[in-house]
Amino acid sequence: MKALILSGGKGTRLRPLTYTGAKQLVLVANKPILWYGIESIVAAGITDIGIIISPETGNEVKSKTGNGDRFGAKITYILQDQPAGLAHAVKVAQQFLGNYPFIMYLGDNLIESQLNLFLDSFSQQNLDSLILLHPVTNPSAFGVAKVDSQGRVLELIEKPENPPSNLALVGIYFFSEIIHQAIASIQPSVRGELEITDAIQWLINHQKKVQSCQIEGWWLDTAKKDDILEANRIILDTSPMSSILGQTDAQSQVIGRVQIGAGSQIINSTIRGPVVIGNDCYIERCFIGPYSSIADQVTLIDADLEHSVILEGAKVVGISYRIVDSLIGQRAQLTIASQRPKALRFLVGDDSQIELI
Ligand code: DAU
Repeated sequence: MKALILSGGKGTRLRPLTYTGAKQLVLVANKPILWYGIESIVAAGITDIGIIISPETGNEVKSKTGNGDRFGAKITYILQDQPAGLAHAVKVAQQFLGNYPFIMYLGDNLIESQLNLFLDSFSQQNLDSLILLHPVTNPSAFGVAKVDSQGRVLELIEKPENPPSNLALVGIYFFSEIIHQAIASIQPSVRGELEITDAIQWLINHQKKVQSCQIEGWWLDTAKKDDILEANRIILDTSPMSSILGQTDAQSQVIGRVQIGAGSQIINSTIRGPVVIGNDCYIERCFIGPYSSIADQVTLIDADLEHSVILEGAKVVGISYRIVDSLIGQRAQLTIASQRPKALRFLVGDDSQIELI
């Protein structure tokens, strides 16, 4: 059994962060989203992993993630020259996949469940495909399945205007090698992509063994800012962490589950967990409230924030309003230029969002 993780694509819904980086590398609780997928695949006993990368962000994914040693896996990077669809990515990876059955894992998905049970069910029933489903309130944003009472899949439709059910396709699929024949037989959709949903529909139409399973627990497709914040909240809530490697002075208070990385200094501040702070941060006269993740080398002075993700090298100084529900990109600066500011001065990247609430 092999695994194929898709970490290409354009990441349009996470702009402006994805103008400069891969969406799968955005940090959730200070760890790239992609790494959660790798870890859960390795935990299921699969260590031969292919990762689809794009020409724009592939080098960054490769250099951050490495050859797999840190996960106890062997990673092969496979370049997809354009984001021509999920089934196209499988086609590009065909040589790597050979005739092995495999898990296909979308690199921006996170699930609570472990993969072992699904893997056992896929192997024991000798299926051609096992798909995972989860009820959602906005099915039109996903691939949607119509299933019978035994969980047999009758029909799959990608982002339907009139969804036949509220069961969305989770971005984790199990396939036998027959999927390559299916992909070779389908045509690009109206949006110009080779859709994996069409390939699975081909399997169904050709009486192949396709089963579905509704997953329990949470599932997140981290396509937008609020999904990242929600993923961050859930991971911080469930990870058993409390470790202080950095320094906190006598005027600071650290309450609840808090992780502070090496080389970070906390001065005259209150940190109320769950919070994770990376390495080499400087935090002075701040309140850092629950569900915040602060990446490495961040500077926060006279700042008050909660339920936010602050990425590497960002600087927030002297903002007297509480910062909430925010995602602040790498090296972004929010600073104050005078004691009693009367105006706002911006240099804001394309597609940025600033909201005064
Ligand atoms: O998250 C679940 C949904 O994922 C499913 O319900 C849909 O059926 C499925 O099509 C997919 O929809 P998305 O619109 O979320 O797919 P997205 O374009 O965001 O791509 C998912 C991942 O695959 C993302 O990490 C980027 C990567 N990708 C995407 C394309 C189109 C590639 O590596 N290559 C590609 O060509």
